[in-house]
Amino acid sequence: MSTLSTGSNLQLLFHFAIFEKYFKKLQRGRGMSALAMFKELYDKGSKSLEIFRQQAVSPNNKKVLKEWGISDAAKMIGRTPQNLRSLETQGKIKKARTKKNGKRTERIYNLKEINKIRDYLNLRPSKPKGAKTAIIGITNFKGGVGKSYTSLTLSQSFALMGYKVLLIDSDNQGTSTYLGGGFIPDLDIRSEQTLLNIITGETKDLANSIIPTHWDGLDIIPANLTLYNAEMVVPNQIYEHRQKTGELFPFYARLKDALNSVEHNYDIIILDTPPSLGFITVNVLFAVDGLIIPLLASGVDYCSTIQFASMAYETLDRLPKIDYQFIRLLLNKNKPYSAQSKDISDFIKKFFGELLLTNSMIDTEAVSKATANMQTILEAEIHPNDRKTFNRALSNIDEVTKEVEFLIKQVWDSAQYREAA
Ligand SMILES: Nc1ncnc2c1ncn2[C@@H]1O[C@H](COP(=O)(O)OP(=O)(O)OP(=O)(O)O)[C@@H](O)[C@H]1O
Ligand SMILES: [Mg+2]
Repeated sequence: MSTLSTGSNLQLLFHFAIFEKYFKKLQRGRGMSALAMFKELYDKGSKSLEIFRQQAVSPNNKKVLKEWGISDAAKMIGRTPQNLRSLETQGKIKKARTKKNGKRTERIYNLKEINKIRDYLNLRPSKPKGAKTAIIGITNFKGGVGKSYTSLTLSQSFALMGYKVLLIDSDNQGTSTYLGGGFIPDLDIRSEQTLLNIITGETKDLANSIIPTHWDGLDIIPANLTLYNAEMVVPNQIYEHRQKTGELFPFYARLKDALNSVEHNYDIIILDTPPSLGFITVNVLFAVDGLIIPLLASGVDYCSTIQFASMAYETLDRLPKIDYQFIRLLLNKNKPYSAQSKDISDFIKKFFGELLLTNSMIDTEAVSKATANMQTILEAEIHPNDRKTFNRALSNIDEVTKEVEFLIKQVWDSAQYREAA
């Protein structure tokens, strides 16, 4: 006779049910081909991404940039709200759109409207006439240090200021494509729209890859997984060329050459790069005027950044000489109140001095809150409970952007380019 009480029997049954469920889970997929398993993963994943996108970008299935009230818009333009109202009354600028807020009717502006007013008032910043477009690479072969975060926030911040910006995603993971353009890289983007055909030498035409984003003044060249093929095609080309001529095949100049025909349309071009020093990154290193290298305040990240510098040095040493206007390290996910973070950032400061940007990017929860809705910090609609977190993050981004803008102005002002112009 069983010595178990009814309670224990029930418990046993319960455990058996759980075991059966897990057993079924464990059995799931057994005997299926690896290909079929990946296919199922891909199909389900793609479907879920599509639904996620629809939720994130509804109602138009397109990302729409947020709008600003008259105080913020006036601040962005550099005038007072009264001034904007009076320009409107005089008929000098278009009548603003309005929306109801309780009993009040408020004026609202999107970035396009703000830029129109800036243009009218001659207050839209741009590179000086004849100056070369500043092409900035955000690189580090260490993964997860904030290359995409930095690329996105800088591109969007400069676009908010009124600059004409091109963000180029050269990483097949497509983070900037997803967050910057609202595209699901492997569903929405065709391989011809990526840098693939440029890096493999199929074409020099970049213009067809440029897509306007929902931010006025910010265009994007997207990436998706197919871009990775460049890393397979180029080595063969190098090998064959060496066999024939004994010389290094100039694969590294392809992006620089292709940029020549489109760069004049922009004040600033920002390149997000993959976490590797492959053929695509070498093209980026060869095309830029300046580099920003994000790194985290941790020992491991610090060491691999030094390694990156050494490998980039060895690589560039084999190519024709090029000049940079600047290279700067940017400390990311900095925790000003953490002793460990402070120790390593003091250490980095001590050795690198002015090679390190004075301002660092703080570690902020605002990033994950915004990303959950397929948005960046700069476009997220802020919940009142999160206002403090977001405001701190936004003013931090502002400080970093201003510092980078200063470096970009050095590129525009450099005598070398002025003479060439
Ligand atoms: N300052 C920050 N505060 C909080 N989270 C951050 C910050 N910077 C980046 N992150 C988060 O850290 C993760 C890695 O950042 P990101 O994707 O920009 O790194 P990455 O260098 O581009 O990575 P990869 O090498 O894979 O391309 C992301 O989830 C990003 O949202
Ligand atoms: Mg990235």
